[in-house]
Amino acid sequence: MTHLKGRSFTKELDFSVEEWRSLLDLAARLKQERREGAERQRLTGKKVALLFEKTSTRTRCAFEVAMMEQGGHTTYLDPAGSQIGHKESAADTARVLGRWYDGIEFRGAGQDVVETLARHAGVPVYNGLTDDWHPTQMLADQLTIMEHTTKPLSEVSYAFVGDVRNNMGNSTLISSALMGMDVRLVAPKQQQTSREVREKAEAIAAQTGARITLTDDVEAGVEGADFVATDVWVSLGEPKELWASRIELLRPYQVNQDMMRATGNPRAKFLHCLPAFHDRHTSVGEELYQATGMSALEVTDDVFESEASVVFDQAENRMHTIKAILVATLA
Ligand code: CP
Ligand code: NVA
Repeated sequence: MTHLKGRSFTKELDFSVEEWRSLLDLAARLKQERREGAERQRLTGKKVALLFEKTSTRTRCAFEVAMMEQGGHTTYLDPAGSQIGHKESAADTARVLGRWYDGIEFRGAGQDVVETLARHAGVPVYNGLTDDWHPTQMLADQLTIMEHTTKPLSEVSYAFVGDVRNNMGNSTLISSALMGMDVRLVAPKQQQTSREVREKAEAIAAQTGARITLTDDVEAGVEGADFVATDVWVSLGEPKELWASRIELLRPYQVNQDMMRATGNPRAKFLHCLPAFHDRHTSVGEELYQATGMSALEVTDDVFESEASVVFDQAENRMHTIKAILVATLA
């Protein structure tokens, strides 16, 4: 697993089908090794800077734990804790951090920022989420799918429902196309994936045999699905004033028991990258309940807490898959 050494991971399109699959295989092997108590440290003394312009629980901790378990170190720079953007350009920041660190993770709004960092750092740069892509999440989602089905990925039907027009939808479409899956993006017409991303996915699908469906019809979109996934309706960095219009637009796309039944597949599983608004136990959730009477938004609590839900396996897999990226590019 040395052929990815030195490579950046700014979006799924950086990788070939074989490279993507090798990252999934490596993640599964590392997870197994760890489970058996036989983890071998491959990143002893390596250092990765974690640059976050947006908040995070899973991504930050997954990078920190993965590096720690592999014998390496991290420095966390929080949204207010560095000069990038306001006092120092991405190119200058990259040239400084690249002198000390073996890799740099970046989470923020601009895809151009992560790509600029990658051009100038001289070390691998990892996209921990931008407005356009969330590529490290995709390896975790697909590893979770592999663990919860007996089918090869190319035979899996995967419906992603709701707010599909940004990072999670784009990344789901491209990564599913890479693995030759039957992928459906189910959303209102005005909230669908851009033509540019769709065309990129279709070009990949022509090589991999992936089946791509973009539809606003929930019943048709989820029919026969093995996995149903969703994401928050208002993303990091979007103004809270958007909640009212998003709720109105996306309410028919809430993942609830009726939607799970509409798959016609009693074994259909539920995925969510998290965090999720499935109850009133958050300040935002409670505020929205007071304003709308909805105690759950993109997914109901009964689905989130059901046997079908594999969201915490998926969250765990963020660490194993991020570890695979680090080992593949740094070891
Ligand atoms: N899924 C995900 O990226 O979670 P965090 O925002 O907590 O990192
Ligand atoms: N679309 C979400 C994903 C969170 C992991 C956001 O950008 O906030």
